[in-house]
Amino acid sequence: MRLMRIAIIPGSLRAGSYNRKLAHVAEAILQKHNCETDYVDLKDHPLPPYDGDYEESTGVPDTCWKLKARIASAHAVVVSSPEYNGGIPGTFKNVIDWTSRGGSNPCGGKVVMLMGASDGPWGTNRMMPALKQVYSIMGSIVIPQTVTIPHADKVWDKEGNLVDETLPGRVEKVIANLLNVTQKMTAERL
Ligand SMILES: Cc1cc2nc3c(=O)[nH]c(=O)nc-3n(C[C@H](O)[C@H](O)[C@H](O)COP(=O)(O)O)c2cc1C
Repeated sequence: MRLMRIAIIPGSLRAGSYNRKLAHVAEAILQKHNCETDYVDLKDHPLPPYDGDYEESTGVPDTCWKLKARIASAHAVVVSSPEYNGGIPGTFKNVIDWTSRGGSNPCGGKVVMLMGASDGPWGTNRMMPALKQVYSIMGSIVIPQTVTIPHADKVWDKEGNLVDETLPGRVEKVIANLLNVTQKMTAERL
């Protein structure tokens, strides 16, 4: 299989975030499959709330261009997002919206795999259709299967160690689809 470069983006900024931990599980599996990974910490790309007047006067912020470039250089993207009030967290949607500006959308035509973890019983399942829709509308090829993790506080212990041994297997199954589709999408044309 050709070397693939995958950007992994947790949608939470919180240091102890379950979605960051879930993103690291995916990162380890992708590396096991000889993928080059780029773990994107959104704290490295702080963005103001999107404001059309700001964009018109100041342009797309430099840190957003850097983030756009990281996404653009990947063959595929893995997202791991919390669910806030049944929807996409505003902070993460703001990042999605900013990165779609500037006359180029790095998520267009990109294979995207969606994951989410929450400490409640919903496991981000109420937010997932919205996230799928947003990436689809941006022209991404969204892998239909998702990884959703309810009761994340039982999946990792208080020290942050993974205690649910079934999790990597569940993530690996969807990653297999991601790699399969990405390989087909990026294959050299004859
Ligand atoms: C504003 C807000 C709204 C939330 N709404 C939901 C929700 O609708 N469903 C849910 O399962 N958890 C909800 N939660 C709890 C989050 O799932 C929990 O904080 C989770 O740990 C956040 O993800 P993280 O650990 O990656 O930061 C909410 C948390 C916040 C701060």
